[in-house]
Amino acid sequence: MQEQKRVGILGSGSAVPERVLTNFDLEKMVDTNDEWIVTRTGIRERRIAGDGESTSDYVTKACQRALEAAGVQADQVDMIMVATVTPDMMFPSTGSIVQDRLGASKAAAFDLSAACSGFLYGLSLANGLVQSGQAKYVLVAAGDLLSRITDYEDRSTCVLFGDGAGAVLVGEVEEGRGFLSFDLGSDGSGGKYLHMPAGGSKIPASQESVAQRQHFLRMEGQETFKFAVKAMAGSTEKVLAKAGLDREDIDLLVPHQANIRIIEAARKRFGLDEDKVVVTIHKYGNTSASSIPIALDEAIREGRAKAGDLAVMVGFGGGLTWGAAAVRL
Ligand code: UT7
Repeated sequence: MQEQKRVGILGSGSAVPERVLTNFDLEKMVDTNDEWIVTRTGIRERRIAGDGESTSDYVTKACQRALEAAGVQADQVDMIMVATVTPDMMFPSTGSIVQDRLGASKAAAFDLSAACSGFLYGLSLANGLVQSGQAKYVLVAAGDLLSRITDYEDRSTCVLFGDGAGAVLVGEVEEGRGFLSFDLGSDGSGGKYLHMPAGGSKIPASQESVAQRQHFLRMEGQETFKFAVKAMAGSTEKVLAKAGLDREDIDLLVPHQANIRIIEAARKRFGLDEDKVVVTIHKYGNTSASSIPIALDEAIREGRAKAGDLAVMVGFGGGLTWGAAAVRL
């Protein structure tokens, strides 16, 4: 029998816009206040891309940094996948745009639509591609400029979201490292809780759709919150069980950054000290699928995530979807 390959993360990178939008800035835009936003969400500020910029700008930078960290050239990459709900345009894919900009001449490329869970879906696919020998190096990227689909007249959503991108290079790793287990899921019956109604084939862009503000993200916060708390716990438990591990084995939890209260619920459920949970929500808000790779990249660069550590990444989002991955870094 062929020996199983050990597949894992060879390098990570991230990129966020320089422009900062603080809670105090938002106080001037809608009926909200810093105290409400901080206590209900944990967010103090978020990054917003400049006019004329697009998702591929940040994904390209994040991928370049991941390649640099891994010491691999762009033309060695076999596959690029970009998890996004704000692609540069409907098509061509942001993956193809990034492939060109990186000079990844032999890479296939595509976009992946699983909202905030997209990065975890991508990791699982990349693991399969490398395991099966179809690819040696896969760039798994996530990037969103959520500011482009945020309604800055809707206080219940506009305080939450920010822009950014993160990426990892996936490939074969040495003994004692690599992915141990994945858990992915979807419950399409909850799609209505988090969606953008127009811009697709159901409601193409029209003057009416624009006037009705249907090109902005809409969310039922409380329904999403309830789902999120359950999904985070359930998916984390599943990856631990599949890998034959216990909660005490977790060195680092890298959760989707949607709300500090959701992260805290997970932290307490698994009995983890604060220093074992990566939190970036105070400075970036919710950056959709890129929140996990940005948090992971920062933890690696700050030395909080070390080689051999057991990291559990877990997230949830529109679809509804959820996912988790357990990996020895
Ligand atoms: O990655 C995507 C996944 N998204 C999420 O995971 C989001 C999950 N949901 C949440 O994080 C929370 O539900 C929110 C942060 C969105 C909202 O927090 P909440 O504690 O569920 O608040 P709520 O919706 O129950 O609203 C409470 C009150 C309401 O006022 P009344 O009806 O009690 O008078 C809202 O109108 O807070 C009001 N409110 C605000 N007040 C000040 C809602 N948004 C704001 C605001 N500033 N920005």
